[in-house]
Amino acid sequence: MAEKSFKYIILGGGVSAGYAAKEFANQGVKPGELAVISKEAVAPYERPALSKGYLFPEGAARLPGFHCCVGSGGEKLLPESYKQKGIELILSTEIVKADLSAKSLVSAAGDVFKYETLIIATGSTVLRLTDFGVKGADSKNILYLREIDDADNLVEAIKAKKGGKAVVVGGGYIGLELSAALRINNFDVTMVFPEPWCMPRLFTADIAAFYETYYTNKGVKIIKGTVASGFTAHSNGEVKEVQLKDGRSLEADIVIVGVGAKPLTSLFKGQVEEDKGGIKTDAFFKTSVPDVYAVGDVATFPLKMYGDVRRVEHVDHSRKSAEQAVKAIKAAEGGGAVEEYDYLPFFYSRSFDLSWQFYGDNVGDSVLFGDSNPSNPKPRFGAYWIQGGKVVGAFMEGGSGDENKALAKVAKARPVAESLEELTKQGISFAAKI
Ligand code: FDA
Ligand code: NAD
Repeated sequence: MAEKSFKYIILGGGVSAGYAAKEFANQGVKPGELAVISKEAVAPYERPALSKGYLFPEGAARLPGFHCCVGSGGEKLLPESYKQKGIELILSTEIVKADLSAKSLVSAAGDVFKYETLIIATGSTVLRLTDFGVKGADSKNILYLREIDDADNLVEAIKAKKGGKAVVVGGGYIGLELSAALRINNFDVTMVFPEPWCMPRLFTADIAAFYETYYTNKGVKIIKGTVASGFTAHSNGEVKEVQLKDGRSLEADIVIVGVGAKPLTSLFKGQVEEDKGGIKTDAFFKTSVPDVYAVGDVATFPLKMYGDVRRVEHVDHSRKSAEQAVKAIKAAEGGGAVEEYDYLPFFYSRSFDLSWQFYGDNVGDSVLFGDSNPSNPKPRFGAYWIQGGKVVGAFMEGGSGDENKALAKVAKARPVAESLEELTKQGISFAAKI
């Protein structure tokens, strides 16, 4: 069993890891000082591509096209770039034990990695229907999407079951993006989710109504208010039918499940303070353990502008938190400091010809503005959330670059809203004036 020592280890090989490595390279690391350890077989990449361009029937995105940090317009770190920058990229290596007091990590193969400073960037893993004991949920072609291997399995299944029937379980991000991707691949798609409308984590009933009608017009069938309670399989083990709790059943050649994610913190249980399901950090992503940082999906951090602590499972934060942690580490080494993380939440999604962005907080009352007719060839509408008389969140479907910038500005400035009627009337021009 080998033992290796590094000054810095980034544990995880996803989006945060890629952006942390880039920031270390910007700040300057000596050869051999930094290692990135990932259980994936490929260098860090922009994960959002997996549910979008990766699944296109033609002209699909493939690596090395979307390695970090192209998603934010930054330098693309190819596997060889790590070597050129003196960074050791240790792939296909799962860490199965972490001892934060001994500053050591142990891989599944028994190799030991010692560090002076650790950045935990293990991200999230999918929730599985087998975890909830759903009968038949281990049948073949019941698929999940998190990593590139999952996306490759999905691409294979799409090819094998060309033009077949797909059932998508879940009405969140994966549910909406994957229903569209499968429809574009000519599948007969049915989406099933328990809530009264899709993406309840963010959408109001009005916003959801637009997407549900748009999807229905594209041929996606939507079944709400129920869940998949069991599956039956063919004699070869491949899924055949999905049973719903309301008594209905649906034929399926493939099933995609997107019922949420959970942060990968189990390696560190009992060794580090946790909060809201994640690893608790300060505004520099320092955990309760000296020299240990946590970034991206696993971090529960102070959201300064709301005087709150939150965990955010979106790519913009994974990039920015990684950069903040590395800047803080390097500044501290030089006896300096960086400003506290002052994050404005930003989420987005794309499917079919649609594209939306959201900034801020989706709390309080909400108003819709613009043209939310799903039959319009170029829908362009938005929403504001108002709390305590102030605009705290802003959403827009089909916004231009400038309009999306205005959304960010209004969510950051939190101006007073005279009245909900006035906001509806002014629409995006209210944000553009900020
Ligand atoms: P991330 O999951 O990217 O990386 C974690 C890494 O750690 C993985 O490489 C994993 O293998 C590795 N790892 C975990 N445990 C390990 C261990 N024990 N040993 C070694 N390695 C280990 N967000 C958004 O804002 N817009 C979008 O459009 C999308 N789209 C999207 C699509 C899909 C399919 C997914 C799954 C997610 C998105 N997201 C998104 C969310 C976004 O991708 C997510 O928030 C970031 O990838 C989080 O970055 P992290 O680095 O924290 O985790
Ligand atoms: P999610 O939390 O967005 O949605 C999960 C959905 O599944 C919810 O609607 C939930 O109520 C529903 N659900 C729960 N149990 C169910 C059941 N038994 N049957 C049917 N539906 C059920 O999670 P997700 O869509 O799985 O996404 C996973 C992760 O990937 C999240 O961290 C998400 O942020 C990330 N992601 C983000 C984007 C984006 O930001 N554009 C895109 C893809 C994935």
